[in-house]
Amino acid sequence: MQQTFITHAPTETEQVGRAFACELRASGKDTALIALRGGLGVGKTAFTRGFASAFGRMHVKSPTYTIVNEYRTDEATVFHFDMYRIEDEEDLLGIGFDDYLRERAFCLVEWSENVEPWLPRERYTVTIERLGTDSPDARRITIREENV
Ligand SMILES: Nc1ncnc2c1ncn2[C@@H]1O[C@H](COP(=O)(O)OP(=O)(O)OP(=O)(O)O)[C@@H](O)[C@H]1O
Ligand SMILES: [Mg+2]
Repeated sequence: MQQTFITHAPTETEQVGRAFACELRASGKDTALIALRGGLGVGKTAFTRGFASAFGRMHVKSPTYTIVNEYRTDEATVFHFDMYRIEDEEDLLGIGFDDYLRERAFCLVEWSENVEPWLPRERYTVTIERLGTDSPDARRITIREENV
């Protein structure tokens, strides 16, 4: 499965995240690893904010300083990671990543590039790219289901 979207504002990127969450829920899922790819300020947190909003009141803030934020409602659990400062397996074990993966939860991982070797094989990869310089707010979002 691969889907591509073009957005022109943060609210549109949130909407793509929200629609993706609704799709997972509709297919009966309550657990998934979602690896976010894309450089600084491209919209990874915006996507996550929209995703979490599908499950009720979850007010997503960037986990830059905390590395992981947890959101729980009656409908779902969302763990939101920022791996910007994670460099190796030791760092990852240090934050208890394995324990998070064992939970019934959606794990959204910013800077997943940094932890690629330690991610579960079965996952969704969400790649967000800037589109050209004429329209600085335009983004291409590609969602791929993987079993690498
Ligand atoms: N189409 C768009 N989708 C998402 N964000 C957009 C878009 N156009 C402009 N923006 C702006 O880009 C920024 C995206 O911020 P966000 O925190 O979501 O990025 P990020 O990828 O999580 O960054 P970081 O790498 O610092 O964690 C915001 O300032 C937002 O207003
Ligand atoms: Mg972010």
